[in-house]
Amino acid sequence: PHTAIIIVAAGSGTRLEARAPKAFVGIDNRTILRHALDGVFAAQPLQVIVVAPAGHEGDAQTELLAAAGDRADLGRVVTGGATRQESVAAGLAALWGDVTTVLVHDAARALTPPSVIDAVAAAVTAQAAALPVLPVVDTLKRVDGGVVTGTVDRSELAAAQTPQGFPRDALEAAYARAAEEGAEYTDDAALFAAAGHTVRLVPGSERSFKITTPDDLERARALLATAPP
Ligand code: C5P
Repeated sequence: PHTAIIIVAAGSGTRLEARAPKAFVGIDNRTILRHALDGVFAAQPLQVIVVAPAGHEGDAQTELLAAAGDRADLGRVVTGGATRQESVAAGLAALWGDVTTVLVHDAARALTPPSVIDAVAAAVTAQAAALPVLPVVDTLKRVDGGVVTGTVDRSELAAAQTPQGFPRDALEAAYARAAEEGAEYTDDAALFAAAGHTVRLVPGSERSFKITTPDDLERARALLATAPP
């Protein structure tokens, strides 16, 4: 395939208060990483790079093989870095073949619908990235020193999710530039936009929430019980 997805799963997940790295925490009888991979393999065929925590490459390979079935040739596991940005860079370095579009996805967004993955991949162009977003529902305040200094117009805001999709060449150039400058960005779309590129919006999903805290894990369990994929 000409499209690859880099699944970053190298975080420690300290906020989840679990013994294993977050990607290997069970939701039901399947781990966070396994659910993320099941979603990816239910989407249109993609080259799949799993970025694993150091020392857990074998565990990641086991999950990849279980999710891939007879499509194991599409997948590969590499070792992550100290930051998410370094983990994505390790994933980019592992792409093979004539990939032209790269999606970057948080394993922690384990219940992301395959339709969102397909929509992001389809929205990427040679010039522009694609970002799945949800509207912001809370009223947001600008604050300083314990007092409100303003209210932000939420119609100008959106909450960013993953997978985020990019033209490969421009993303690699933007990553090289960020590494050279030692610049850290909160997500790949920010890194890409900082290089002067356009990021287009596609509709995200409530199911794409990031599993970060024990409450998030409970939400994922409840969703799987009442509204399975
Ligand atoms: O920590 P947080 O939930 O923001 O991480 C988002 C995603 O980035 C997770 O899927 C996590 O596994 C991944 N990550 C990584 N390497 C790191 C830090 C985070 O792959 N060093």
